[in-house]
Amino acid sequence: MSDSTAGPRPGDSEQDGGQLARQAGSEPGETGPTELRKRVIGTPPPAEARSMLGTPEPGTAGAPPVPRPRELPADPQNLSGAKRAERIVAACFMIATLAGLGFIAAYVIFPVHSILRAQHSNWALGLTMSLVFLALAAGAVFWVRNVMPHVELTEARKPLRSAEEDRADFQATFEQGAEASQVKRPLLRRTLIAASVPAAIAPILLLRDLGPLPRGTLDHTVWRRGLRLLNYGGNTPIRPGDFSSPGGMVTVVPDGYQDDFNALAKAACIIIKFAPGQIDFTSASHPVPGKVVENWTVNNIVAYSKICTHVGCPAALYEQTTHHILCPCHQSTFDATRGAKVIFGPATRALPQLPMTVDAQGYLVARHDFTEPVGPSFWERGTTV
Ligand code: FES
Repeated sequence: MSDSTAGPRPGDSEQDGGQLARQAGSEPGETGPTELRKRVIGTPPPAEARSMLGTPEPGTAGAPPVPRPRELPADPQNLSGAKRAERIVAACFMIATLAGLGFIAAYVIFPVHSILRAQHSNWALGLTMSLVFLALAAGAVFWVRNVMPHVELTEARKPLRSAEEDRADFQATFEQGAEASQVKRPLLRRTLIAASVPAAIAPILLLRDLGPLPRGTLDHTVWRRGLRLLNYGGNTPIRPGDFSSPGGMVTVVPDGYQDDFNALAKAACIIIKFAPGQIDFTSASHPVPGKVVENWTVNNIVAYSKICTHVGCPAALYEQTTHHILCPCHQSTFDATRGAKVIFGPATRALPQLPMTVDAQGYLVARHDFTEPVGPSFWERGTTV
């Protein structure tokens, strides 16, 4: 028995030559092909089997797939320019890498056990993370614009029109539905048209409400010099001594306008009594750097507009312990001790302060109107005082 897996051995050559010649289709002793075929043991792997059967014609079963022509070029048109751009993109990504490492280092290095240190940490973390995103974005944009090849591809759109049978089916169904809905009854059809006309015109008429322009009416209220502040509801004037203790909040209206709701929509105020030293009207309370909140208080009583500077709800909730004025609509919160500065919520302006004094009888009166428009900010109104 011969070892079929072993290589040729001395003495086997004649026997093997005869066998291989038979496999090649020639008799022993005949002049065989110049190159003898390789001996195959067992089932050949598929690729080899195909090679033994010959290559099928393209397009026939078993033929290798014909490679599709490229849609996109492999390289940009300007290779040297792309090389330069590649270096810039790589530099951007390196900057992003360093900034990312800087972010990790900043997180580890900066302690946050005090407000100042937390501020430094926030600065470092924010700057490094911003740089990461900026450098990544710049690199990506540069890559797309200068390294990738520029090509325009268009694809023909398939026809959108439905098949004729589908269109005919739809028309038949529509006409059956129209018949079944009884629109052919003239009484119904005409009254429906009549009902639709006003409904169509009404929105056009509503455009009239866009005018007239408010002009200066939003800039002023009815408050003026010497007008007394009345306790709303009781309609009685107020003396500073009427507050038995600090902490109270009262809604007040201008004397003579207590039943004029148009006037009250802008003029309603709240007054709050504080303990001595609680009010802090400094430049830090003012949203504009360098400006100081005016101290128009009387005996530690301060008056603010009650109209929220967000969208005009009455800001009438007062927390005595924190001295916060709250608007119930969207939770804007104002610090009453610091000029009603916004400390939370969507409002962007402090509640305007009503300048106050006392008259000859000792009652609280206005010095003059608010020095800025009350209520929601509007297009000609800055977002800060
Ligand atoms: S109206 Fe006051 S918070 Fe929106």
